[in-house]
Amino acid sequence: MFGFHYRLERSAIGLVAFIVLVASIGGLIEIAPLFTIDETVEKAEDMRVYTPLEVAGRNIYIREGCYACHSQMIRTLRDEVDRYGPYSLAVESSYDHPQLWGSKRTGPDLARLGNKYSDDWHVTHLNNPRDLVPQSVMPAYRWLLRDQLRTDDLGDHLRALRAVGVPYSDDQIANATRDAYGQANPDSPEASGVAERYGADTNIRAFDGNQGPLTDMDALVAYLQVLGNLTQVAHTTQQAEVE
Ligand code: HEC
Repeated sequence: MFGFHYRLERSAIGLVAFIVLVASIGGLIEIAPLFTIDETVEKAEDMRVYTPLEVAGRNIYIREGCYACHSQMIRTLRDEVDRYGPYSLAVESSYDHPQLWGSKRTGPDLARLGNKYSDDWHVTHLNNPRDLVPQSVMPAYRWLLRDQLRTDDLGDHLRALRAVGVPYSDDQIANATRDAYGQANPDSPEASGVAERYGADTNIRAFDGNQGPLTDMDALVAYLQVLGNLTQVAHTTQQAEVE
């Protein structure tokens, strides 16, 4: 072994060629799996995109740094699946730019949070977590109920997401501001377009408890209630594994 190295070091070209060969092994191991990424990532025929209101909520989630304490990725370990539900699949994050998997859990994982609590619970909890969980160390986000949601730029947000691969239609982009209003105002004329463009299962209700002008709370709660519900593929495939 040392004899080989000794001889190699005396040949500049041989040494360089050998270094390139050894270094490229690591590169190959990293790059090769990406060639099969289309087969590796599961398919989810039933997957829908986030509505403009949910996109706005997701932006607030990022703005407020919720990801610093909450992950959105359930690992394949037994205790995680027992606690949070089916483990996360790659396809479930495919419309998330950036992904919010997180690396720290001061609070629980939120990947399957949708429909776990009522809107009312979320509003009270976000306004002051200690009203519901006395020992909670989560900060109070009191301004969410007070601050008006900005919606005039939502079309641009959808357009930016389309540029990185989220399949928004021209119709969805053109109606983004209108749909954001309609999703939180079920009695308004704008509401019908939301189900038309995003599917009949879309949540359409006054998320912060009041119809009328939108608040940041409307958007954030709309987003929290759809977590884990863009597709049911994790439930159906993992149910099949158990049986
Ligand atoms: C400093 C860390 C921290 C930050 C930042 C934080 N949380 Fe939490 N969160 C917690 C802790 C701890 C809990 C568990 C106690 C509780 O329910 O209040 C929790 C619980 C929750 C729950 C209930 C989850 C469940 O399954 O019971 C939700 C929903 C939630 N947080 C949402 C948010 C959102 C949205 C934000 C950003 C606006 C946020 N959190 C920011 C620490 C944090």
